[in-house]
Amino acid sequence: MSALPWSDALALNEPHLDSTHQEFVELLGALERSLDPATVGSAGFANASAALQALVSHCESHFGMEETWMRAMGFEDGNCHFTQHRQVLEVARDVLARIEHEPADEVQGYLERLVLGLAEWFPMHAQQMDAALVYAMQELKLEPQALKLEPQALVASAA
Ligand SMILES: [Fe+2]
Ligand SMILES: [Fe+2]
Repeated sequence: MSALPWSDALALNEPHLDSTHQEFVELLGALERSLDPATVGSAGFANASAALQALVSHCESHFGMEETWMRAMGFEDGNCHFTQHRQVLEVARDVLARIEHEPADEVQGYLERLVLGLAEWFPMHAQQMDAALVYAMQELKLEPQALKLEPQALVASAA
């Protein structure tokens, strides 16, 4: 059982966002699996590093998409939704930078706490902040595609 399985409770009924959120869940699951002791024992943290890099790249696109929509609706960059995105990216990038330079047991701990932290954070964020974003767009009858706000790399290949 993964730390964050996909469930209907995470769906916001906005196709662009739901496919992006499913990808987030898949990439977090891939990171979690890369921490399996058998994998780490044979490959060290090479798989985990690649999985975390993929997750960071995804978050840059994912959060960037939502922020483009929010700016189009007049949300300020200091808004708490932007702040949460920024904090998550800062933490994930910090862990990524530590993988090569710190002792293995420390790195394992950072990565495990990151997986559990993101698995706890994401449902709250999606059901509150992202749901509010979808609601605001629906109220204003804004369609991402009609506004030409669809980002280029919404769904990268989930390895
Ligand atoms: Fe999101
Ligand atoms: Fe968000």
